Amino acid sequence: MRIENKVYRTIWFEDNLVKIIDQTKLPHQFIIKDLKTIKDAINAIKTMEVRGAPLIGATAAYGLVLSIIEKNDLSFLKKSSEDLINSRPTAINLKWAVDRMMKKLSGVNEKDILKIALDEAKAIVEEDVGFCKKIGLYGLKIIEEISSKKKDTINILTHCNAGWLATIDWGTATSPIYHAHKKGIKVHVWVDETRPRNQGANLTSYELNEEGIPNTIITDNSGGILMQRGQVDMCIVGTDRTLSNGDVCNKIGTYLKALSAKDNNIPFYVALPSSTIDWSIKDHKQIPIEERNSEELSHLEGIDENNKIKKIRIYPQKSKSLNLAFDVTPAKLVTGLITEKGICEASVEGLKGLFK
Ligand code: MRU
Repeated sequence: MRIENKVYRTIWFEDNLVKIIDQTKLPHQFIIKDLKTIKDAINAIKTMEVRGAPLIGATAAYGLVLSIIEKNDLSFLKKSSEDLINSRPTAINLKWAVDRMMKKLSGVNEKDILKIALDEAKAIVEEDVGFCKKIGLYGLKIIEEISSKKKDTINILTHCNAGWLATIDWGTATSPIYHAHKKGIKVHVWVDETRPRNQGANLTSYELNEEGIPNTIITDNSGGILMQRGQVDMCIVGTDRTLSNGDVCNKIGTYLKALSAKDNNIPFYVALPSSTIDWSIKDHKQIPIEERNSEELSHLEGIDENNKIKKIRIYPQKSKSLNLAFDVTPAKLVTGLITEKGICEASVEGLKGLFK
């Protein structure tokens, strides 16, 4: 998608380096950063220079390529794969991508391993682009149906950033929105700010602005009243891990939006590529929920009147805080899952129907 009218992807490989858009600097600064080593890749995931489930997976895949360039040695590669998997716990795409790469590289000789690794990482990236595009085309049908009943602008609420910045291109939750906009359907997006890291305000609103899509940032607590007032036609969010029973783990606060949507009879959709489905665990209590540094709550970063990035404390120094990064929305609150294979019910039967 576009930034200042130039087409970008979030990650690419060039001159034996992995290039990323440093998302900790957006929206105030647009910086392309080089990842040179496996440590750089792990650090980029941990510090959230790259974030969003599919992009974390792609970074891990390229991280293994960097690991091979650094030292073509099996035990180094194994250690790199373990360190990558441990760099962030919740998004299953990370483990999915590492497992896929390691399976491909198993038994490959030293001479061929780099080319095979690079080809596989590129395949993961291209596949994600294709899947996100398909998610958009399936999701478009839902927006078209709402639009056929309501001639006015369609108001869509989204949480966090499940946009192209969280994937390689298109996004998951935003892909249907981009496709609707391209088809001339009038859409307006309510963007949840998404405290504490403000991915909604800093990233979703930014990328929608760059594509010319009307959007309004709201506090994380505003969705309920907007739904009661009839100002939300549908919700679409992304996910970091969806279980085979349709339970959806996503950015903290998603659950409360789904409850509000249910109470107000508003469709609540979750958009995801199949790489986000965890087929192995059956109970959402087993999902590792990331707990991040409490400084993300107690401090805010922004730009001052002299265009300087500033970080300020907003809480009493003595106060304790708890920073859980994700929550789980039970399947019963989800209207449907929008995947690259079509739309299904959030249930074992629904998912099995699409993914035999
Ligand atoms: O902590 P983040 O910014 O990595 O969390 C991102 C989300 O929760 C997204 O909704 C999810 O990864 C889906 S991205 C298509």
